[in-house]
Amino acid sequence: MVKAEYLTIEDAIKKKIPIAYLRGWVYRERKSNKFIFIVLRDESDIIQCVISKAKTPKIFEKAEQLTIESSVKITGNLKKDERAPTGYEISVTDLEIIQIAEPFPITEHQSPELLYDNRHLWIRSRHLTAILKIRHTVVGAIHNFFRGRGYYEFDAPIFQPTMSEGGSTLFEVKYFDDKVYLSQSWQLYAEAGIFSLGKIYNMGPTFRAEKSKTSRHLAEFWMAEMEAAWMRLEEVTEVAKDEIRFIIQEVLNYNKKELDILERDISLLEKYAKEEYPTIKYAEALKILNEKYDMEVPWGKDLRTIEEAKIAEHFQVPVIVTHYPTEIMGFYKPPSEKDSKEALCFDMLAPEGYCEIIGGSERSLLVDNMMERLKAEGENPETYNWYFDLRKYGSVPHSGYGVGVERVVSWICGIDNIKDAIAFPRTMLRKAP
Ligand code: 4AD
Ligand code: MG
Repeated sequence: MVKAEYLTIEDAIKKKIPIAYLRGWVYRERKSNKFIFIVLRDESDIIQCVISKAKTPKIFEKAEQLTIESSVKITGNLKKDERAPTGYEISVTDLEIIQIAEPFPITEHQSPELLYDNRHLWIRSRHLTAILKIRHTVVGAIHNFFRGRGYYEFDAPIFQPTMSEGGSTLFEVKYFDDKVYLSQSWQLYAEAGIFSLGKIYNMGPTFRAEKSKTSRHLAEFWMAEMEAAWMRLEEVTEVAKDEIRFIIQEVLNYNKKELDILERDISLLEKYAKEEYPTIKYAEALKILNEKYDMEVPWGKDLRTIEEAKIAEHFQVPVIVTHYPTEIMGFYKPPSEKDSKEALCFDMLAPEGYCEIIGGSERSLLVDNMMERLKAEGENPETYNWYFDLRKYGSVPHSGYGVGVERVVSWICGIDNIKDAIAFPRTMLRKAP
């Protein structure tokens, strides 16, 4: 074979080179007496390749062995062809087979369970490849957003001695002769970090033993969190809105092609990237539910997914809901000074049924109140003494929030199940491959 510089399919098309040297995998193949059509796939795109028996009999003979996902190097003449699946076609002049694949276990119309069992192979699909590329943009955007605004990246331990988001979803792990829990949140350690670094952020693996089998919960997911000294609720909610608009704009900048593959309505994303997002109180949310949707939610009850969905549907853009009932909130979410029944906290709810994508709050500075609430949850407050120290040595108001990375990716991609927003999902019923 001629020594050549290999290009990706995308670059070969962009550069309009007459002779293309490509390498990749057989995505589809169709054989007739006169021609073999191969759709070649690489990380960038797919392209139709044609092998003519009359013109290249030896290559035709070789190509007859090709199966789905066989790995190959192809040389050929690249030309526009409106009939080809992606508008270009290659007439093959040379073919090197690297490996003939065994019969691929995934064919058309497979059950979701088979696809999850073969996840290590299924991530090659165009659909998942598109999602993984968008996820890459989302993750990069989060780093750029915070770094561009003077936040320091700060890491917390994954092995933690206490809970932060409720004992019922803790994963317990043997730790030498003792036990610890896998991180439910970076937050408590971030509250120590701000006294050193001021404004900080992080994105890391997060673990929750979620026993609910929903399309929105993973047992292992990635959370992007921020924490800032001096910041109050009014300000932190604006940071959250800016972050989400920034992420969506970055996806629009870099992933139009992937959004197309996923058949995502781009005009909606353009709207989410531009428009203001409203902030309402929990009490107002109840009023909307009652007056517009005839849904009666008594004050003091948490919003369920269907109720969150209606609130976001009402506004058609992400909406921030603040001042949830203190009683049903985590121990660190402070009661408002005006009305201690309401907590200085917020959720961001995404439209189109995606619901909660962010949870955050000001942080309580009231040690006694937090101790009481921890006790009520069955916790031993003494294990939180280090955390209470933070309220004793130069305590300042501070706030933060966490973005569910897979929730945001699901929404931006418009996918049905959060399991497809991560390469290898972990849920109560899925721990392999
Ligand atoms: O609302 P949560 O539980 O908030 C916290 O953990 C805070 N400590 C964050 C902070 O203030 N620093 O979780 C934050 C977000 C949720 O809004 C949701 O998007 C996502 O994390 N999330 C999950 N995503 C997938 N699967 C799960 N089981 C999730 N649980 C929460
Ligand atoms: Mg929450």
